[in-house]
Amino acid sequence: MSQDDPQRILIFDTTLRDGEQSPGASMNLDEKVEVARSLEQLGVDVIEAGFPIASQGDFEAVRAVAEATSRVRVAGLARSLEKDIVRCAEAVAPAGDRGRIHTFLATSAIHREFKLNKAKDEIIRQAVAAVTCARSLVEDVEFSPEDASRTEPEFLAEVVQAVIEAGARTINIPDTVGYAYPDDFAHLISELRRRVAGIDDIVISVHCHDDLGLSVANSLAAVRAGARQVECTINGIGERAGNCALEEVVMAMRVRQDLFSGYTTGIVSEHLYGCSRLVTSITGLPLQRNKAIVGDNAFAHESGIHQHGVLKNPGCYEIMTPATVGVPKTDMVLGKHSGRHALVGRLTELGLELDDAAVDRVFTAFKDLADRKKEIYDGDLFALVEQQVRGREVSLWRLVALTTTATSGHVATATVTLAKNDEEVTDAATGDGPVDAIVNVIDRICGVSGVLLDYRLRAVTRGRDAQGEVSLQVALGEIRVGGKGLSTDVIEASCLAYLDAVNRAAFVTPPTVLDGV
Ligand code: KIV
Ligand code: ZN
Repeated sequence: MSQDDPQRILIFDTTLRDGEQSPGASMNLDEKVEVARSLEQLGVDVIEAGFPIASQGDFEAVRAVAEATSRVRVAGLARSLEKDIVRCAEAVAPAGDRGRIHTFLATSAIHREFKLNKAKDEIIRQAVAAVTCARSLVEDVEFSPEDASRTEPEFLAEVVQAVIEAGARTINIPDTVGYAYPDDFAHLISELRRRVAGIDDIVISVHCHDDLGLSVANSLAAVRAGARQVECTINGIGERAGNCALEEVVMAMRVRQDLFSGYTTGIVSEHLYGCSRLVTSITGLPLQRNKAIVGDNAFAHESGIHQHGVLKNPGCYEIMTPATVGVPKTDMVLGKHSGRHALVGRLTELGLELDDAAVDRVFTAFKDLADRKKEIYDGDLFALVEQQVRGREVSLWRLVALTTTATSGHVATATVTLAKNDEEVTDAATGDGPVDAIVNVIDRICGVSGVLLDYRLRAVTRGRDAQGEVSLQVALGEIRVGGKGLSTDVIEASCLAYLDAVNRAAFVTPPTVLDGV
């Protein structure tokens, strides 16, 4: 199956760029590389790894992804400015001829007038200059007329014609604000194909946002109208309401072969579940239970009538089998007597490939947990990997001891001992409940002042002895950072989560505010 096959739909994953723009979804460099490896294994064609000019962290992440991958194309985003494009070329350089520059410029009337203050001819000149500059640095150049779906179709065609002549190989049509409607969006793609000479020699891409819940429908309609690349993110994470969800668009094309006959993607669908869980676990963005394809309830049949039908023939109520998307048959996996071999086997099935040292740490923590909890589920394993492998890379302060007192109607107190290197510090504070008291005492010890923006507690698995996972968002000055904590004691999980956020903040550079050009 070749990428030049006209029936092949290229999957361009932007989880690490647009997805990371979801409030609270920021990932550190190692986490981005881990997601990129998982995406490569999943079989995506292009990974958009970041926006190199936006920050040093983004630049390094794009370079690291370019270095860590071997098959997939690696794209970086750049405004239509020479400095952005040069920086982007530097970032994707380790990918060699797999490197792509994705440059964009808004074209709609509202953006031209209020954001850019530029006339139509200036827009065309700038877009052509950007693509020409990018083509002087790499072969593979993609251009996006931002807010394309709200751009006058005649002007959009003029821009697209000009950038194709300047050497763009992929033209991406973004529905930036999620305004499009499937029939209209398909018509827009057909119109471009009718108006623009040479457009069938390049790849038409679409990039849909989900503000009206139509991103997948719009992408599918565009494919039927001739688009050959779909830009999407795992779990649909992204700016505001998010982007087109990769797992949904891919499975819709696969399941509805009556509508997408002969169309293929390079996606190994059995990896969808593992990749989805990895992104959830790294970003801390919870996945709703009823999420299509990968949600906990996606294949759960509660009603007796459904259960009866599925037992007789799964096709009665299932349009795809759980195995096709990698949902494990049974969630309950291991127990106290399971050995290292069984653990590694299950981790591999879940797409969690760890080196020996990491397996050692996870195995020790697993044994410890198995002493406290009879049954260890997949959710526990994801959480243990998160805690033992990813968590420790950003640890500065470590929790040594925690005592809280809380009686309803009275002020709560927390006494905490933290260690940094070998030095231990103990302090105490009061608060409006034990979590508030913990936040206050950690702030005092670490010399920060955090504002808790979001706090979520979920049971990682079922059962009264389930581990509690706290995911929270904290604003520390200009930095907004997420933290996660895991324990069978939810107060300790809260403490670990807040400390995780404080530790992570030390590695985050404040965001640069870029103008739209
Ligand atoms: O939504 C959008 O328009 C974008 C572009 C940069 C492609 O993300
Ligand atoms: Zn976008």
